Amino acid sequence: LNPPQKPLSGQDKHSFGYTTLQSRLPVIVSKTVDDVYRTYHGLPDSDPLKKEKEQEAKKIIELIGGLRYELQRDKPFRPFTDKREDAEEWNQALSEYYPASSWYKASWLFSECYLYRRIKEAFALSQHWKDYDPFFEQKQTVFKSSQKAVVSMAVQLTTPVDPKTQKSMLDIKVQDGPESKGTRDTFFEMVQVSLWGNATDLSLLDNPDLAKVEELQRRMLSSGSSNKSSANASPAASTVHLDEVVQEDREHHASELEKHADKILSNDSELLWNRVKSLRNGRVDIILDNAGFELYVDFVFADYLVRAGFASEVVFHAKRIPWFVSDVMPFDFQWTLDQLHRPTSDNTNFFNPTDPIEQQALQALGQKWQSYVNNGTWKVTSHEFWTSCYAFYHLPTHPSAHDLFQDMRQSDLWIFKGDLNYRKLVYDCKWPTTTPFTKAIGPLGDGEDKAEGVPMVVSFRTCKADVVVGLAEGVEEKMDKVAANWQVSGEYAVISVSP
Ligand code: F6P
Ligand code: MG
Repeated sequence: LNPPQKPLSGQDKHSFGYTTLQSRLPVIVSKTVDDVYRTYHGLPDSDPLKKEKEQEAKKIIELIGGLRYELQRDKPFRPFTDKREDAEEWNQALSEYYPASSWYKASWLFSECYLYRRIKEAFALSQHWKDYDPFFEQKQTVFKSSQKAVVSMAVQLTTPVDPKTQKSMLDIKVQDGPESKGTRDTFFEMVQVSLWGNATDLSLLDNPDLAKVEELQRRMLSSGSSNKSSANASPAASTVHLDEVVQEDREHHASELEKHADKILSNDSELLWNRVKSLRNGRVDIILDNAGFELYVDFVFADYLVRAGFASEVVFHAKRIPWFVSDVMPFDFQWTLDQLHRPTSDNTNFFNPTDPIEQQALQALGQKWQSYVNNGTWKVTSHEFWTSCYAFYHLPTHPSAHDLFQDMRQSDLWIFKGDLNYRKLVYDCKWPTTTPFTKAIGPLGDGEDKAEGVPMVVSFRTCKADVVVGLAEGVEEKMDKVAANWQVSGEYAVISVSP
C-alpha cells in the first residue's frame, strides 16, 4: 500500500469513487440483504437445520445492514473478526496504513475492496452460510437473459465458413499460416468480443434491467441483430439457409465491431498479435473478471487460442470470495460450462433455443470446453491475493503472493480482464492520461523497478472508473467534448499491452 501517485478517493466529489460510495455501494448492500432474506424465507420445512439457518441469516442481515449505516456516516474502518486465512493480513494493512481511517478518507480502491471483504465476513462468521454467494442469483438471471447473444455466437462459431473445407471460424489453425487472413482476422474479432464482453457487469447495473443488458450485448456484439438472425430464424428457415444467415450475421457482426473500433481509445492489439502469433503450444493466463456473458466470451477467446495452436494451456484465475458482485468464482466457472451442455435436474436446459441447430451448437461448445477442463488444457484456479487489498504492483514481492507469482512466471502471456483488474494494475491513481501503460503498471511493466520474469501483460478493459492511461496527446481533451462521462460509462475501452 504505497501508491506511486495520488490515489483516487471518495473525497473528491466529482469522482466516480464518490458516486460509488454515495449511491452505488448502498444499493449493492441492500440487494445483498434482500437476497439473504429471500433465501432464508424460501428454506423448505423439510430442512432439519431450518431453524439454525434462519437464526444465522438474521444475524448476517444485521451485520450487512450495519455496513450500510457505517458507509453512509463514514464511520472508521474496524478490524475483521472472522477466522478466514486472509483476516490477519487485512487487519495488518488496516492498522499499518489506515489507522483511524474511513470510507471516504481512504483510497477508493481500498474502501471498495474492504466492503466486499466485510460482506464476506458476515457469512464467514456463520456455520451454515460460510460458502454462500449472495450474488449468485443475479449472475444466473443475467446470464439467462443473455441467451440470444450466447446462442447466436455459438452458431456463428460452429457453422462452416468455408463450404469446401467445412471449416468453422474456430477450425482455422496456425498451420494454415499465422499470417493467413483467416487466423489474423479471427484473432482481432476474438479480441474485440472478449473486450466488449466486459461492458455488462452487474455492479454497474444497480438495477439490472434485463432488456438493457440484452440491448448492450446487441450493440456491442450485434448478435441476433441482422434481419435474418439465426437466433430468430424458424427451424425450417434455419435448416435450409443457415449458412447464408450465419454469413450475414458474421458480416453484420464484423461491421458492428468496426463501428466500435473508434470507441477503443488506445488499442495495442497489434502488439498482442505479434506476440500471440509467435507462440506455439504456449501457456496463457487469463485473470478473469465477470461471470455470465463475459466468462462465456472469455471461453470463446481461450478456445480460439487453443484450437489455433497458440496455447496448449490456459490458466483461468478466479476469485475465492464473492467480489464486486459479478466476478467469477470457481463454482461459477464449472456451473457455466454445465449450463451449456448438461440438462438440469428436471431435465430441462438452462438455455432453451427452439432450433435444434442452435442447441447442437451450444452443446458442441460446452462439450469441447468441458473436455479441455477434463484433460487439463484449461485450468481454473483461485488465490487469496486477487481479493486482497493489494494492487498488482505487489504481486512480485508480497510474501503471501509468492507461490502465485512463481507459478505465473511460467506463463507466456497474462491477460487481465475488466475494470477492477485495470485499476489494480495501475494502482488506481490519478495518472496523467498520456502516461504509458508500461510505466503505470510499475514492477509489472518495463520501468526501472521492473520485476524479473513477468511476461507480456495485457489488459482488456471497458472504462468504468476515472483512471485511464496510455492515451495519445489530445485524446482526453477530445473526449471531454464528446461525452462528459466517457471515463466511466463503460462505452469506451482500452486494449493495453506492456511488452
Ligand atoms: O465500482 C468500481 C468498479 O471498478 C466500477 O468502476 C466498475 O463498474 C466495477 O467496479 C467493476 O467493473 P469490472 O467488473 O469491469 O471490473
Ligand atoms: Mg467485475
